Amino acid sequence: MDKFVIRGGNPLVGTVRISGAKNAALPAMAAALLTEEPVVLENIPEVRDIQTMRRLLVEMGAEVELGYGRAHHRTTIHCSGPIRPEAPYELVKTMRASTLVLGPLVARTGHARVSLPGGCAIGARPIDLHIKGLEHLGARITQEHGYIEARAERLRGGHIVWDRITVTGTEELMMAAVLADGETVMENCAREPEVGDLATLLTNMGARIHGAGTATIRIQGVPRLAGTRHRIIPDRISAGTFVVAGAMTGGDLIVTNCEPRHLGALLQKLTEAGANLQVADDAIHLTGDGRLRAADVNTEEYPGFPTDMQAQFMALATQAEGTSVITENIFENRFMHALEMVRMGANIKIEGRRAVVRGKTPLSGAAVLASDLRASASLILAALVADGETIIDRVYHIDRGYERIEEKLRGVGAQMKRIGEMLPKRAALAPAQ
Ligand code: EPZ
Repeated sequence: MDKFVIRGGNPLVGTVRISGAKNAALPAMAAALLTEEPVVLENIPEVRDIQTMRRLLVEMGAEVELGYGRAHHRTTIHCSGPIRPEAPYELVKTMRASTLVLGPLVARTGHARVSLPGGCAIGARPIDLHIKGLEHLGARITQEHGYIEARAERLRGGHIVWDRITVTGTEELMMAAVLADGETVMENCAREPEVGDLATLLTNMGARIHGAGTATIRIQGVPRLAGTRHRIIPDRISAGTFVVAGAMTGGDLIVTNCEPRHLGALLQKLTEAGANLQVADDAIHLTGDGRLRAADVNTEEYPGFPTDMQAQFMALATQAEGTSVITENIFENRFMHALEMVRMGANIKIEGRRAVVRGKTPLSGAAVLASDLRASASLILAALVADGETIIDRVYHIDRGYERIEEKLRGVGAQMKRIGEMLPKRAALAPAQ
């Protein structure tokens, strides 16, 4: 298992280019199941979760072609042949977003068998609302042996009012409704930019969708969809992570190829915390002197402060003067990183859904354990300002969602190295003479 070794203390200076959004790319790839024609997706990030989705699509019978050379961020997905409508436990357990194939599979083939994901490091994360939504569109759902089975000759339009806002739930049902018979109206939908990006792709494929990006989405079902070419939006969480890194290290950092308008709540908090930001159409220039003030944060659905930036902001709060109260409203167990930061010297008290961070505390390098994707990112940020060396274990979490993060950080001055197996495995040793 790879580890990162980071020596803190260097301000980040230079330019970082942001890759495509993993959380927009995953539903876009699932959407390719909805048509017999090829779907060409540009700006696909090279991260582990994308490889998992490719594997899943291939197992279901899709032809998946990767671009090479300058086109290495392109993936072409062609689902012309018979589809095996099953997402097995082995893949779903490594990536719960695999369940995104449920909606498109029932819509296209009338049948889907998808493993239930189970809990994960940030909370219970059920998919009950996805299932309820599909039932509203006429799917018959059964559950057996840890799998959900959904069947419908043809889905029919329906009226869904989400009990709570769910990002992949909204995406799942949008993909189911585009091929349903008649109109579907969904209220209390997620307004995340990734939902809007999926709607753009589906519309380019011939779907009729209105209101994506607002709380109410209307979809007129069509009999079939066509292939298309689509460019995935930039990763707002990745961009936000780099901007926070720049602010914490007192750097001079330009984050390019991003969509600052998707980062409103974060940029506002960073300004409140004393970061100096200049924002252009597709870039953010941060200049920091390392002096930061405490700021309270409440995670909320978009356009509120993203839960996926909570851990990184907590790392920043350890370096800000004063007390920051960070409240996590989306997931019930998303503070695992706090305990690791405390081991590095941070003063953080957890009270239920609130973390009280008292700063500024010097951090010192330590051996720490990454528990999920964004927690890993926050530990990297803490390590960048810590005294001495930090060793972060289980970095496979970060490889799930950040493209070549160590190369990007090294490119702007971080001292960071990936180390793999240090000693050969026993079986590889030469036999004793
Ligand atoms: C998406 O997860 C993202 N994943 C997450 O990104 C992100 O943290 C989350 O949205 C919130 O912004 C992808 O887009 C692939 P939800 P999702 O359904 O859709 C509860 C990352 O680090 N809920 O909006 O699974 C749920 O438990 C990640 O990239 C139900 O109770 O999140 C949570 O408390 C991790 N029943 C809340 O709703 C359901 O059927 C919101 O979750 C569905 C959700």
